[in-house]
Amino acid sequence: MAGKTRSGTPAKNAASKKAAAAARGSGAGKEATAGNRSWGGRFDATPDRKTQAFTASIGFDQRLYRYDIRGSIAHASMLAAVGILTAAEKKTITAGLREIETEIAGGKFVFDIADEDIHMAIERRLIAKTGAAGAKLHTARSRNDQVVTDVRLYVKDALAWIDAAIGDLQCALLEVSLRHQDAILPGYTHMQRAQPVLLAHHLLAYYEMLARDRERLGDARGRVDILPLGAGALAGTTLPIDRARVAEELGFARVADNSIDAVADRDFILEPLADIAILFAHVSRLAGEIVLWATAEYGFVRLHDAYSTGSSMMPQKKNPDIAELARGKSGRVVGNLVSLLVTTKGLPLAYNSDLQEDKEPLFDSVDTAISSLTVLGAMVRSLTFDEAAMRRAASDSFLLATDLAEILVARGVPFRQAHEVVGKIVRHCLAAGVELTSLGSTSLGAFSPALGPDGDRKAGVAVASLLTVEQAVARRTSAGGTSASQVKKRLRTLARKHGVTA
Ligand code: ARG
Repeated sequence: MAGKTRSGTPAKNAASKKAAAAARGSGAGKEATAGNRSWGGRFDATPDRKTQAFTASIGFDQRLYRYDIRGSIAHASMLAAVGILTAAEKKTITAGLREIETEIAGGKFVFDIADEDIHMAIERRLIAKTGAAGAKLHTARSRNDQVVTDVRLYVKDALAWIDAAIGDLQCALLEVSLRHQDAILPGYTHMQRAQPVLLAHHLLAYYEMLARDRERLGDARGRVDILPLGAGALAGTTLPIDRARVAEELGFARVADNSIDAVADRDFILEPLADIAILFAHVSRLAGEIVLWATAEYGFVRLHDAYSTGSSMMPQKKNPDIAELARGKSGRVVGNLVSLLVTTKGLPLAYNSDLQEDKEPLFDSVDTAISSLTVLGAMVRSLTFDEAAMRRAASDSFLLATDLAEILVARGVPFRQAHEVVGKIVRHCLAAGVELTSLGSTSLGAFSPALGPDGDRKAGVAVASLLTVEQAVARRTSAGGTSASQVKKRLRTLARKHGVTA
């Protein structure tokens, strides 16, 4: 450590020392210590400016100010209730904190990296305003329990914001489905046309995914809703605090049972990040399909001008940027989850500064989710669906091959045998260059008597009348299937639930 002070600051760096002192403003020089005002007692020198810039989180954690102030007011009330503060001190502190809140909200608060983070910035200002009373606020509290209290309050709000944004996208899907209740398009497997389905059925598939996303985020809430404050730095406090009171005032369901766990773990952030990553696995699929559907090759939807952009070079272009970006942003939210998983993995208990890296991924995923969902919902509402183009794509007669096999099953043929028979019919049609629906009952009867005139007579219905796109959809009445009876029932229920109309 030769040439360095105890704090590890290069001793020769007097200039930056001075700069840091200047940056801290008028109060700095008046104090007995050369270090940071909050923890400088054992330090000879202030951290140099680059170190401050590197260690500070104030640039991104200032958005927590309202939660920090709420937490501090609840803490002060509790300290007064247990006799650590006088009623007058509590009043002074509360009023000071309210003023600071107004200053920050009004853009009048000067943020300084010398304060490191929002907690110290607010406390510094409070002490400047209230002196001795403010200096008592941090009693029985550490930034370690303070920061997770703030972030938990934020996450509880964020979960509600994301829930509302997902709900909005769900409503957009319901509106479009209601508008196109009878539209049919090919359903795909392996990107190959598979069977005709209702557009509403296809869109409601996304509704269901999003419903589970909301459920998942809702489930996480209970594990977020726990008060860490009172854990202190890691071991609790010798002072007679009342954590239950603070929990109640801040609206937490309960108090963390273990002070070390309370300050050390970040699973209450990881879980929402994982849920948001899964949400984007869904959102990106919906967005990706819209990109495909808007191509000339599909032509199922036309983008509204307000929700698409042009090319700087190709005058004819109209690009589905919103959908592409909503799809692309899945990369960053998955990255945010992985980032925090890697940061927390293998960390020794309890608090480590590594944990300061928890906030940017969290804020980014929350912001990304809200903006993507909101814009995507508006874009979905503005889409023009080309029902005729979808219907044309669905009228490929080979999409009815499974129906033909099921007709055989209904006429007593074991499914494997029916599959084989229809496979042969398909091969025959492909070789002859004819549609599956073009074969009359005599030709079909040559492949299996059950499909011939005899089979029709016994069944009381002609194969030809069953082998249409409309029938293929209408007859899939199994629970959860694509029949209009099933889909419209579900659509009505959901529209009522969300108060949505076409
Ligand atoms: N800014 C810090 C964070 O975000 C607050 C807690 C810091 N605690 C400490 N002992 N340095 O995690």
